[in-house]
Amino acid sequence: MGIREIKKYPEKVLRGKTQPVCDFDADLQKLIDDMIETMYDAPGIGLAANQVGVSRQVTVIDISSREEKSSLIVLINPEIVSAQGEISSDEGCLSIPEYTTMVTRADRVKVKAFDREGKSFEIDAEGLLARALQHEIDHLNGVLLIDRIGRIKREFFRKRYSREHELSRK
Ligand code: NI
Repeated sequence: MGIREIKKYPEKVLRGKTQPVCDFDADLQKLIDDMIETMYDAPGIGLAANQVGVSRQVTVIDISSREEKSSLIVLINPEIVSAQGEISSDEGCLSIPEYTTMVTRADRVKVKAFDREGKSFEIDAEGLLARALQHEIDHLNGVLLIDRIGRIKREFFRKRYSREHELSRK
């Protein structure tokens, strides 16, 4: 097990579409264990593989953000199969430190995925879990929460963030 470095905006690996997992091998198990440890250490309620620099369709979520692992969910190749309703709530991201913003997302989602052994399953989720699922699946598609806000808010974010983090704008 090991804590991995969390990639921060605007690193390119966060912007690429991740590759589906085909082999549920030892490397995958090690990646998942490291991601779980990294998420709890951060602490965060979800982490996508490209946030630790691995461009694969793997995400871990625990909305309790506690290490008893009672709410831990590991999703491989997750896909949203249906979405309902709309709700706005404040959201942050481990790859965009010290920034939160209102993001509008579906209120309920049904997601299908594989577990770490390669067994398929479905989750019906609402509230914070539905939000976390959408946020992490966005990551796997190279989408960040700043893509889910209005253009003016995004420009404002970019200016402030590059000033605070001394990043050069592309
Ligand atoms: Ni995030």
